[in-house]
Amino acid sequence: MLNTISSQASKLINLTNRVKKNYSKTKLVTITSGKGGVGKSTFTANMAFLLSRRGFNVAVLDADIGLANMQVLFDIKPQNTLFEYIDGTKTLDEVITPTAYSNIHLIAGRSGYQYSSTRNSFVFSRIVKDIIELNRFDVLLIDTGAGLNEYVKEFLSISDNILAITTTDPSALTDVYSLMKMLSLDKSKLMLSFNHTRNYQIGETIANSLVNLGKKNRLNKDFMVEYIGNVSTSANISTTGRLRKLFANEFSSDETTKQLQVIIDQLLKNIH
Ligand SMILES: Nc1ncnc2c1ncn2[C@@H]1O[C@H](COP(=O)(O)OP(=O)(O)OP(=O)(O)O)[C@@H](O)[C@H]1O
Ligand SMILES: [Mg+2]
Repeated sequence: MLNTISSQASKLINLTNRVKKNYSKTKLVTITSGKGGVGKSTFTANMAFLLSRRGFNVAVLDADIGLANMQVLFDIKPQNTLFEYIDGTKTLDEVITPTAYSNIHLIAGRSGYQYSSTRNSFVFSRIVKDIIELNRFDVLLIDTGAGLNEYVKEFLSISDNILAITTTDPSALTDVYSLMKMLSLDKSKLMLSFNHTRNYQIGETIANSLVNLGKKNRLNKDFMVEYIGNVSTSANISTTGRLRKLFANEFSSDETTKQLQVIIDQLLKNIH
């Protein structure tokens, strides 16, 4: 009996999700990594910029719970964060903050904040669904925190378009493989990008090795890993980050910006 009820409930949830997805134009892309400090937030902010310059209306949600820094990258001081919406003290519109860049809005997080996930369940899924239901943005980018904690898992569970950023560091590769293993259980695809990686081929070769390791370890064979490009190390990236500016804007003809444009081209081909 319990089984029947829960299977009916899950059918209903699936149906609701499908209806919402069909209804809204907003495409959800979640950026994650496993290992910390590999460039997720830098990619997210600069990808938002390049997407906005291609005419897309972009929202960025800072899902690094407790260590939010997207407002620093966009150099703004939001009045409200996603937590005021979760707590019910602000409306969704009030927590969607315009940035200095046209067509980019931020749903900021809060830094140095301990959020107790036992208070509410699925609160993060709900705010994501509510933003999608607004049908206002073309793309919603979610920047997750490091690791595979419960918050990150919740954001991953609701996203079909997941982009993992990694470096070629053995520890980063170990973490991204753990991510692959976890996602292969119930996702069909993972997009993969390398940061701090000199050329496209190096990333491609290592991505193939990860795929082969997955085959050897018999990960779900219907799960695909799609390599979508690399970004090299550049002093202009760290300098612009420190100055709270976006390298893709300040150095639009740099090789790294071109590399990120390739990633955007591939991303747009892959997301649904
Ligand atoms: N390709 C690059 N070349 C030079 N510096 C880079 C590059 N990518 C990122 N950085 C720098 O590396 C640092 C970490 O980047 P970032 O904050 O984007 O990583 P993260 O994955 O979001 O970290 P966390 O896991 O802590 O959220 C920043 O100082 C950023 O400016
Ligand atoms: Mg970050």
